[in-house]
Amino acid sequence: MLNVTERKKVMITGGAGFIGSNLIRLIIEELPNWEIVNFDALTYAGNLTSLAGLEENPQYRFVKGDVTDSKAVLDAMQGCWGVMHLAAESHVDRSILDASPFLKTNIIGTQVMLDAARSLGIQRFLQVSTDEVYGSLQPDAHPFTEDHHLKPNSPYAASKASADLLVRSYYKTYGLPVVISRCSNNYGPYQFPEKLIPLLISNALNDKPIPVYGDGMQVRDWIYVDDHNRGLLEVLEKGKPGEIYNLGGKHELPNLMLIKHLLDLLGKSESLITFVKDRPGHDRRYAMDWSKTERELGWCPKFDFEEGSRRTVDWYMNNTKWVNQVTSGSYRDYYELQYGAR
Ligand code: NAD
Ligand code: DAU
Repeated sequence: MLNVTERKKVMITGGAGFIGSNLIRLIIEELPNWEIVNFDALTYAGNLTSLAGLEENPQYRFVKGDVTDSKAVLDAMQGCWGVMHLAAESHVDRSILDASPFLKTNIIGTQVMLDAARSLGIQRFLQVSTDEVYGSLQPDAHPFTEDHHLKPNSPYAASKASADLLVRSYYKTYGLPVVISRCSNNYGPYQFPEKLIPLLISNALNDKPIPVYGDGMQVRDWIYVDDHNRGLLEVLEKGKPGEIYNLGGKHELPNLMLIKHLLDLLGKSESLITFVKDRPGHDRRYAMDWSKTERELGWCPKFDFEEGSRRTVDWYMNNTKWVNQVTSGSYRDYYELQYGAR
């Protein structure tokens, strides 16, 4: 259990994104003595509408800034006890179209964050990472443990693996008190509709085709975003410096089964399913062994997939305004580039 009485000032990068905005809402609800600095560049994936209502909250401050800008980072990090570093380019398909923003934000940005944390004597630096750094699992292989080799297969995954190694090096070389979390596929409210679940819901609600890559039998381990975020808070507070902690949802599912389940919840026909050309370098299976995190930090995922998926579908059905807002403009160009000739 977290210590809810302690006063802490924490910088959260990427707080206007999917996981970050849910994290900030969770902290405001459950940790009244925490002060949060949300540092975010507001790229296409960052939306302040996801944090509507918090503008005047005395616990919360938003700073628009880029993690590659060392002065802006230093200014925003002043006086913080800890850092939760979530800001990243996060979509695999975009990294296949153009890797450069991924290398800049995910690697250089992490270096800038680490240097600032070092110079300010930050007491805990959490690097929020992903299962994708481990690569792809065989169907019958044991889920990834923290000491599984790093074999990233997309430019996104390679940029996250590079950042993780940099984080580790700052612990070994400078003794910076870092912790790394690696999580599986998240789902829930406020996820940008370029990722499978929100794209599927948004297309299905408009009776548009659901693009399924390859044979649709790739397996992901789905975790409700609040479970991930509770894990991040445990890792930040109780994780041992220099250590890595896996987080996962205990719910492995092939994409096609997931899609059929969601179409059923939405009351839409499976005829919307459209098989398209596979993603290059597509990882066949991810699955997480998070027994170390459970044993050492007492964390385990609480949401059952049935409940989490229903909540998510309900949220999107009731928040079409948010979806329309974030998918106006450049999203349409991206969609045409990604799916137009597929
Ligand atoms: P997201 O794409 O929804 O949000 C990313 C946020 O970072 C956005 O608000 C964006 O504006 C901001 N950002 C991007 N570049 C920036 C820059 N240069 N400077 C400052 N801010 C910048 O991503 P997400 O899905 O919320 O993922 C958050 C983190 O969690 C990422 O580090 C990702 O690698 C990791 N992660 C995600 C998942 C998942 O399933 N979504 C799973 C495991 C780990
Ligand atoms: O595993 C954690 C990772 O999960 C995070 O690190 C990433 O930030 C996050 O984007 C996510 O990566 P994936 O590539 O697994 O997620 P995505 O939602 O893009 O795709 C999920 C699966 O669905 C994957 O096998 C590809 C497939 N897919 C995806 C899209 C967008 C389709 O079949 N059709 C689609 O249109």
